[in-house]
Amino acid sequence: MDRFVKNFILMSIVYLAIASVLGIFMIGRPSLYSLKFVHSHLMLLGWVSMMIYGVGYHILPKFAGKFLKSKAMGEIQFWLANIGLVGMLGFYTLGIYDPSGLYNSLTIAFGIIEAISIFLFFYNMIATLYAKDAA
Ligand code: HEM
Repeated sequence: MDRFVKNFILMSIVYLAIASVLGIFMIGRPSLYSLKFVHSHLMLLGWVSMMIYGVGYHILPKFAGKFLKSKAMGEIQFWLANIGLVGMLGFYTLGIYDPSGLYNSLTIAFGIIEAISIFLFFYNMIATLYAKDAA
């Protein structure tokens, strides 16, 4: 198993644990409902998406009888997906408590990094599955 595949699966489980604890705190203290965006995106971009990236990178090329187009791109995607997610949610949280425009802009900037990571997965997977030469 490639290192970035294992790392995606590890981080997916880490985000699941963090988001679950946050969810329990949200039930106990409804003022924390302002962090619903953080909880839901830790779950969906962290737990769900990263598990799918990890398992998908490992399994989908094999299903199609191909080699992954670029492992280097997978490694870069791992870092951009994590930096984008942590940055986006961190600055979003700071923006709740200090709603100056700066944190909003940083939230958007890291959201764009997250989106770039999604496009890398899109390209790598499509270029792998639809490659002309069989592995
Ligand atoms: C220990 C497990 C979990 C706890 C304690 C928990 C708790 C919560 C709470 C308290 C809310 C706010 C609900 C409200 O607005 O009334 C919420 C929202 C949400 N949760 Fe969780 N949750 C858990 C697991 C999950 C999982 C596994 C996912 C997805 C993979 C998830 C995705 C979401 C989403 C998308 C929202 C936003 C829903 C909306 O905006 O209406 N949660 N969760």
